[in-house]
Amino acid sequence: MNIGVKQGSLTEVECDAVIVNLFEGVKNPGGGTGALDKALDGAITRQIADEDFEGKLGKCMLVQPPKGFPAKKVIVAGLGKKADFGAIEIMKAAAGAIRQCKKIKAGKVVTILHGAGIAGLPACECAKATALGTVLGEYEFTRYKTGDSKKREVDSVDIVELDPDKIADIEQGVEKARISGDAITFARDLINEPSNVITPAYLADVARSIAKDNGLKCSVMDRREFEEMGMGMFAAVAKGASAEPELITIKYEHPEATKTIALVGKGITYDTGGYSLKNSDSMYRMKDDMSGAAAVLGAMRAVGKIQPKVNIVMIVAATENAIGPDAIHPGDVVKSLSGKTVEINNTDAEGRLTLGDAVAYANREGVDEIIDLATLTGACVTALGTEISGIIGSDQKLIDTLISSGKSCAELLWQLPLHKGYKKGLKSDIADLKNTANGGAGAIRGALFIHAFVDDTPWAHIDMSATFTEKTMPLANKGALGFGAGTLVEYLMRYA
Ligand code: BES
Ligand code: ZN
Ligand code: ZN
Repeated sequence: MNIGVKQGSLTEVECDAVIVNLFEGVKNPGGGTGALDKALDGAITRQIADEDFEGKLGKCMLVQPPKGFPAKKVIVAGLGKKADFGAIEIMKAAAGAIRQCKKIKAGKVVTILHGAGIAGLPACECAKATALGTVLGEYEFTRYKTGDSKKREVDSVDIVELDPDKIADIEQGVEKARISGDAITFARDLINEPSNVITPAYLADVARSIAKDNGLKCSVMDRREFEEMGMGMFAAVAKGASAEPELITIKYEHPEATKTIALVGKGITYDTGGYSLKNSDSMYRMKDDMSGAAAVLGAMRAVGKIQPKVNIVMIVAATENAIGPDAIHPGDVVKSLSGKTVEINNTDAEGRLTLGDAVAYANREGVDEIIDLATLTGACVTALGTEISGIIGSDQKLIDTLISSGKSCAELLWQLPLHKGYKKGLKSDIADLKNTANGGAGAIRGALFIHAFVDDTPWAHIDMSATFTEKTMPLANKGALGFGAGTLVEYLMRYA
């Protein structure tokens, strides 16, 4: 779907559907909606009264213009209450409207710029929210549907604005949304793909092509190489897998950079639990255990366009967590890249093992800051559900910046404490550490384990409880959310 910007009047553009809007409770709209209503001899106001359309956020009303009108259909998108209105509401209204467009099989769509009228928000911000909401609401993973069940896609959406002085700002906002939208939908695709497609080798190929397209450096180490380097925890997780594991790195450098950021993503392409085997219900959907990897790969696609003034090292230790003749056993002891020994008392807590070595590798690369994203614990899902992800770390400024980066693209983050008191539980009788401990606070304990390998480097860890939805949400249809990619893009835009 192409998103564009056009100067002109909404009443005159030939299209399959034109989207206008309405605040909750308004019966006689002004602005662009009012102008269209006038051109339709009051058809919109009449239908608002007839149907008692309330303008609730995300709800739509479909109006049929007379034959010969430039737009074949009119969609009135509810904006909700004026008092609650902001960028996230714009995104949700745009997402609701584009779903309606798909339903009526509209290929060429034009839309009003939500929020720039009486709400008076800056045009650039409104354009970004309108465009990003459109992209996220339109997204569906239909690659494996055949025939009629493959739903029609919207071909193009143009934001149409009368005022020529606003066009440059709108174009700027739309371009930002194109960049985040691409990163997020790319991550969604990778997560929605099943694990028989997304193998570690596949992720390595994805990384190579991202690097090639954006002028970045990519390197991939195989099992022998990273084992020889000393990544004993990563190697241990990979032992049960017949698909070859890969240590994937992408580097971006900027001549004016004053610091280097590591973006580390959990890349478990399928998590069976290993010999600490998951039951069928918990195992189903564990293809999404590479959501962290999807987020950092999505963000690296954006880096070439953003050109942030920082250096970036992206790291994904990709493997399946499987069972097999060589798989590790609960109770096995391995040596990590940092030199610390670890008793693996639960093979299902594999993410922290791969991440512990990945962050230690980031430290070897001399980074100044580490951000890791991982579907690390079911405990975080229990605590926050699938609409909010957890964030834990050692650097409050970094955490605050990531929380506010997330807010700008409707990715909600809630901070949990890195409570040192729980560290004692990770002591092993026979090694320096063990990978799990009882006593609740599973998300915090998982983070504390990773922290043991981060050392003093400023660090934030995102435990991605929000990564997949089983029901349609305002900004995502059923399936992967692509959570984290948007937050990282927003964060990197601050360095542009
Ligand atoms: N990938 C899972 C975490 C997970 C589970 C994320 C469900 C989202 C939904 C992770 O590898 C895992 O299995 N963690 C264990 C840790 C436990 C053994 C300490 C968990 O959460 O049960
Ligand atoms: Zn697991
Ligand atoms: Zn896992």
